[in-house]
Amino acid sequence: MQLIEYSFVVKEEDIEGKDVAMVNVNAQGETGVMRTEGNGKVLEIGIDDSNNLTRRKLTHLARQVITLAKANKVKRLALSPSSFALKQLGMTKTEVAELLAKNFDLANYEFTTLKTEPKEGWNSVVGITVLGATAAEKKAMERGQATAEAVNVARTLANTPGGIMTPLLFAEEAKKAVSGLPVKLTVLAEADMKKLKMGAILGVSQGSTEPAKLIVLEYYGDGKQRPIALVGKGITYDSGGLSLKPGDALKDMHMDMSGGAAVIATIALAAKLRLKKNIVAIVPAAENMLSGASMRPGDVLRSMSGKTIEVLNTDAEGRLVLADALTYVEKFKPRVVIDIATLTGAAIVALGQRTSALFTNDEKLEQKLREAGEQSGDFVWPLPLWEEYEADIKGIFGDVANIAKTRYGGAIEGAVFLHQFAKVLDCPWAHIDIAPRMTAIEDDQLAQGSVGAGVQVVIEALKKL
Ligand code: BES
Ligand code: ZN
Ligand code: ZN
Repeated sequence: MQLIEYSFVVKEEDIEGKDVAMVNVNAQGETGVMRTEGNGKVLEIGIDDSNNLTRRKLTHLARQVITLAKANKVKRLALSPSSFALKQLGMTKTEVAELLAKNFDLANYEFTTLKTEPKEGWNSVVGITVLGATAAEKKAMERGQATAEAVNVARTLANTPGGIMTPLLFAEEAKKAVSGLPVKLTVLAEADMKKLKMGAILGVSQGSTEPAKLIVLEYYGDGKQRPIALVGKGITYDSGGLSLKPGDALKDMHMDMSGGAAVIATIALAAKLRLKKNIVAIVPAAENMLSGASMRPGDVLRSMSGKTIEVLNTDAEGRLVLADALTYVEKFKPRVVIDIATLTGAAIVALGQRTSALFTNDEKLEQKLREAGEQSGDFVWPLPLWEEYEADIKGIFGDVANIAKTRYGGAIEGAVFLHQFAKVLDCPWAHIDIAPRMTAIEDDQLAQGSVGAGVQVVIEALKKL
């Protein structure tokens, strides 16, 4: 889907076209009203109590503008960003401009690739005329649009059904996402992974007719520093394997590569913004299927690290592919490692659907990620990663088991499992379980399906690292 086209004018009289609806922010709480004034349309956006307007509420307000325009089939809007910049907000005008532009394009997005276009076209906003924006505000809006574009790329990748988005296509899409950008792509095939002794990812993939791929992207925006490594879970479809998921739980599992999509979109955005950072992104991409060739509960896999993993449940496959990917990143000698994964249903139980779960072995990294979450609206919230939990995942016939002894604290147990492979890296590591934010909830005011979680929080964090 196209991004919104912006035009800039100095005076209200210069707004062209009578089909343009003026956006008016009022403090009377007249929310979501569309009315006509003279021969022009006005879209009223009400603020209940302007003293309480926060960054969070402004995000919703911005999305509401687009939702309302779409509902009224308004194609073009005009607005003055300063009308949103109430002084109580504690944000600079450029911050407001960036937030608005970003959320306009996030709210305008819909996954239409597989639908027939109606005669009258898609119901989306085409253009916005901005009144009286400064050069700095225009730049900020461009940044906001670039971020939204990256998030929307991640959403499209995740929304694509599993029957289309195989590991092979995922690798091809990664190539498209970075085309024209100074990013190097390498794709390892199963034969390469065998040579590297990546028994964990190969174990997950062995039940599928689609071969696994290891997608590696490298961006060097700073001559000397060791890179920051991003690792994303890339399960293109998670049936659960022989530990088959029950009916309802199968439905959204084509989005189990959302973490992989997020790291691909993030490194592409970092390159587009020419961040002065060195970044690598690794996506172990595989399909978790059931067949005569599938790994069985009870099988013991030998991971690239040398540690053996006792597979007690084939549905805990994300941690298996990530185990090998976390070992693989060592060759880049990273100074920070962040993984993003739709790892556990338990994270949704723990936190609900409004924030991702954060686990890290470094307090400073935790602080930076939490701040980045708060600033971007792509929230992360910490859960413990204590050593004591390691007792729960001790293997009987392997070094480590892929599920814990009880069904409690599943998000933590998943993180503690990953930590066994991350702690040998000798650098700060964070794990973001985005399962809670895999799909949009009504309150998000975003299209149904993927929300592209992880992109915004990590791009903001990268700037601080
Ligand atoms: N991909 C799922 C986790 C998930 C569930 C993500 C729902 C998004 C929405 C993951 O591979 C999985 O199946 N995890 C199991 C782990 C269990 C077997 C220890 C889970 O959460 O049930
Ligand atoms: Zn699973
Ligand atoms: Zn999974």
